[in-house]
Amino acid sequence: MSPYNPLADALNKDLQDGAPQIYEMLSARGKSIYFPSRGILGQTAEAKSAKINATIGTAFEEDGSPLALECMEAMVNVPSESFLYASSYGVQKLREEWKRLLAVKNPGLRGKPCSLPVVTAALTHALSVAGYLFVDTGDTMILPDLYWDNYELIFSEACGAKFSFYNTFIDGGYDVAAFSRALREGGAGKKIVLLNFPNNPTGYTVTEKEAEALAAAIRGAAEEGSRIVVLLDDAYFGLVYEEGIARESLFSLFADLHPNVLGVKLDGPTKEDYAWGFRVGFMTFGFRRAGEKQLKALEDKAAGVVRGSISNVPNLSQTILLKGYTAADYEAQKKQKYGILSGRARKIRAVLEKHPEYAQSYEAMPFNSGYFMCVRPIGVAAEDVRRELLAGFDTGVIVLSGLIRLAFSSVPADRLETLFENLHRAVQNLRRP
Ligand SMILES: Cc1ncc(COP(=O)(O)O)c(C=O)c1O
Repeated sequence: MSPYNPLADALNKDLQDGAPQIYEMLSARGKSIYFPSRGILGQTAEAKSAKINATIGTAFEEDGSPLALECMEAMVNVPSESFLYASSYGVQKLREEWKRLLAVKNPGLRGKPCSLPVVTAALTHALSVAGYLFVDTGDTMILPDLYWDNYELIFSEACGAKFSFYNTFIDGGYDVAAFSRALREGGAGKKIVLLNFPNNPTGYTVTEKEAEALAAAIRGAAEEGSRIVVLLDDAYFGLVYEEGIARESLFSLFADLHPNVLGVKLDGPTKEDYAWGFRVGFMTFGFRRAGEKQLKALEDKAAGVVRGSISNVPNLSQTILLKGYTAADYEAQKKQKYGILSGRARKIRAVLEKHPEYAQSYEAMPFNSGYFMCVRPIGVAAEDVRRELLAGFDTGVIVLSGLIRLAFSSVPADRLETLFENLHRAVQNLRRP
């Protein structure tokens, strides 16, 4: 007898019938989760157009409009329907619009099988939904040794994952060989890979060639029998500033790479559309020869995790985003903001070129995209430099993995020169006996 709820059994059967290898990638919790389509939500949906509807726990005025406080309604320029709950899958039109945008932003994705995006409470939540679905206690996750530190709470603390780190950079580029070695460690089996481009903290995105090489390594391991979940943290998607760098999400490669490779794209407007506090993100699944039933089963499981954790994502944020994406000036405004960030990245290159003497104090790490870049201080500890910058130069930076991370996203262009000069002087101060 199955240990699962019959609704989970039905989703599992769809996966086992059409893509048993994908079913095997699920964690124990991932196998067990389902969307409660027959509970309150299902019964509410069935009663949607009933004359007397006493189903859902929201409130309506005597005339049937949402019962909302007028002082709050007056503050937002959207219909009061956005005061009601959104679906646990997300606002349907927003999901469709994001999928349309995915194909526009990633031409290589066209014609490849992928799910409708499920809305999450931004990337952090999307990552944690992915952890729920795919990571069991003791599972190893493969990631570069320069990574966003919140992965520790999301995967290590909450899911019991172990991290297998590979070296990030070699000779100014991505260490694909180190990645391949980490992937092959322990022979064939279930593998969980986490890739993040543009990367936090380094601001690095792989070149097109490196992206192909990563895909080739994953295809090779899949051909040898490994089943590989590739989680793509695309938080900073679209912010690439140099030629020859992968402009498309690597999801375009993984959605169609090999039946043993499941691409899970985690993205959203927080960084991409500069709407950090809206707390909206998306989770999209794709794999070679995916059928509609299997993709829907994965969507249902993800929506089940959303339902069981935060119930649903703020309707107000989703409504504003949908209006924004369909606004006439959306593209032009986005281009203008991109110009601000890419201008700062260019300025940093110019400052470093103008001041070769800074190379005595710190080494700039490879960067070409995103919100950040890193430097490695020479001969002094990064944490000492951070303290010296704060105490003596009124300058705040972050220390991560022995590097100093500079968020140029939040520094106006006319202060960049001073930032790098301060760094140089802080290192020189620390070196003085
Ligand atoms: C690599 C990376 N992923 C995810 C996130 C989380 O983004 P969100 O605000 O959408 O949860 C961040 C935020 O700093 C990040 O740097």
